[in-house]
Amino acid sequence: MRKAACPGSFDPITNGHLDIISRASRLFDEVVVAVLINKSKANLFTVEERIELIREVARDHSNVVVESSHGLLVDFCRARGIQAIVKGLRAVSDFDYELQMAQMNHSLAGVETLFMSTNPQYAFLSSSLVKEVATYGGDVSGLVPDVVLKQLRERLAR
Ligand code: PNS
Repeated sequence: MRKAACPGSFDPITNGHLDIISRASRLFDEVVVAVLINKSKANLFTVEERIELIREVARDHSNVVVESSHGLLVDFCRARGIQAIVKGLRAVSDFDYELQMAQMNHSLAGVETLFMSTNPQYAFLSSSLVKEVATYGGDVSGLVPDVVLKQLRERLAR
């Protein structure tokens, strides 16, 4: 069984993430969306909320499962027999850090990383920018799934 992990903070999931997950689900028997803790980022949604949102928006993909991890991504992959990590690359600016992580993960556990080019429609998109724009009342519909948009508006209205 060919298994891949799509890791990230997903705070919250965007249409760019969903595009990568959905394309990966056509290439692998199972795709495990791994909601990980990125200590350098402040979160808007709890891990449980993020998982619930991803499950909701990915429910049409029967081979996609969603889980969380508080440790190293490679340990998560090893424990689940996941051979590959799939990451979206939006621009050259993503590449340096992504390459560094890919090489570290390969050296730690021999886990391969496959880079998928982001749909140009979503090349400028990030969860952080979505949160910032939404915080100041900007329109982020079309950038996140509708259910995420609703949760985002409710959360920011508090
Ligand atoms: O969506 P993000 O925040 O860009 O995702 C980054 C993430 C969570 C994938 C990365 O920080 C990660 O893999 N964290 C898990 C801890 C880990 O394995 N760190 C070493 C990476 S080489």
